Amino acid sequence: MINKNSTIYIAGHNGMVGSAIWRVLSAKGYINLIGASSKELDLRKQKAVRDYIRKTKPDVIIDAAAKVGGILANNNFPYEFLMENMQIQNNLINEAHRLGIDKFIFLGSSCIYPKLAPQPLKEEYLLTAPLEPTNEWYALAKITGVKLCEAIRNEYEKDFVSLMPTNLYGTGDNFDLHSSHVLPAMIRKFHEAKENNNSVVTLWGSGRPMREFLFVDDMAEAVVFALENELPEHLYNIGTGEDLTIRDLANLVQKIVGHTGAVIWDDTKPDGTPRKLMDVSKMHNIGWKHQVKLEDGIQKTYNWFLQNIENFKQKAF
Ligand SMILES: NC(=O)c1ccc[n+]([C@@H]2O[C@H](COP(=O)([O-])OP(=O)(O)OC[C@H]3O[C@@H](n4cnc5c(N)ncnc54)[C@H](OP(=O)(O)O)[C@@H]3O)[C@@H](O)[C@H]2O)c1
Repeated sequence: MINKNSTIYIAGHNGMVGSAIWRVLSAKGYINLIGASSKELDLRKQKAVRDYIRKTKPDVIIDAAAKVGGILANNNFPYEFLMENMQIQNNLINEAHRLGIDKFIFLGSSCIYPKLAPQPLKEEYLLTAPLEPTNEWYALAKITGVKLCEAIRNEYEKDFVSLMPTNLYGTGDNFDLHSSHVLPAMIRKFHEAKENNNSVVTLWGSGRPMREFLFVDDMAEAVVFALENELPEHLYNIGTGEDLTIRDLANLVQKIVGHTGAVIWDDTKPDGTPRKLMDVSKMHNIGWKHQVKLEDGIQKTYNWFLQNIENFKQKAF
């Protein structure tokens, strides 16, 4: 059983999700957290991963490491997205299994579900229809990770479980407009427009698509739940189960940032999928639910943005 002295290896502990898991576990009194940056340990290298796990002897591994990116990056580097993600997760999952580790938490993404799956997305829709082509490389890698954990769980009765988060945002987010997700991009755009005498903000699309957002600390709490309990099934969606239009999201961000200028919706730009919402009833039924309201989460994210704005500027912000 896991306790506060257990050695917990968080792969990808410098990333947005991994650092939130580290923060939340530290705050709960877990004292033996370990991690290595990609410079110290390249997870694509099988022997290096084996040596690291042998040396550090973790009781549990949380895999929050991945090569992540948007549509453009997926389109331009399909081989890297498929291969590197499979290498990272295969090395971690396989070496954990071979070296006798009984508990493993694998993080994926809602893109594993078919493009035209009914909404809200249920876990049982996995592998029932074709994927969204723009990120199928990444999605396929993640699906193999889910299936590998399921196979080890079924065949060897180990507690290997996969958690699939919805869109995440929060502390440690990426505010680079070339690669950021919609919510941090809005925070930055509204903030800069406010500083610029409340100039006009132009946002992409019609504003009508509906999306779900989960504060990253809530995601970390879901990981803690999976750590402290043996979950009865192999795959769980993690989200709020609630969505809103992009237009309503923009109104909320604008209010929190304090921008009072006009907003233009550029509907020559693509909208993407009309709706993407997770069915989180399986997690609710076993006792986990998100805690942070969207408005509070955006406020916290904006506060963090303001505290770190100088660092972003140095990185060609
Ligand atoms: N952010 C979201 O909205 C979201 C939504 C759904 C699911 N997820 C999932 O959550 C997980 C983490 O995402 P994130 O947003 O935290 O990503 P992130 O901020 O880009 O962090 C990814 C981490 O992976 C590590 N990494 C990548 N390649 C590596 C390699 N070859 N060797 C060692 N480490 C490597 C990086 O380490 P270094 O920093 O040391 O280079 C980085 O810390 C992913 O599986 C992702 O699919 C995220």
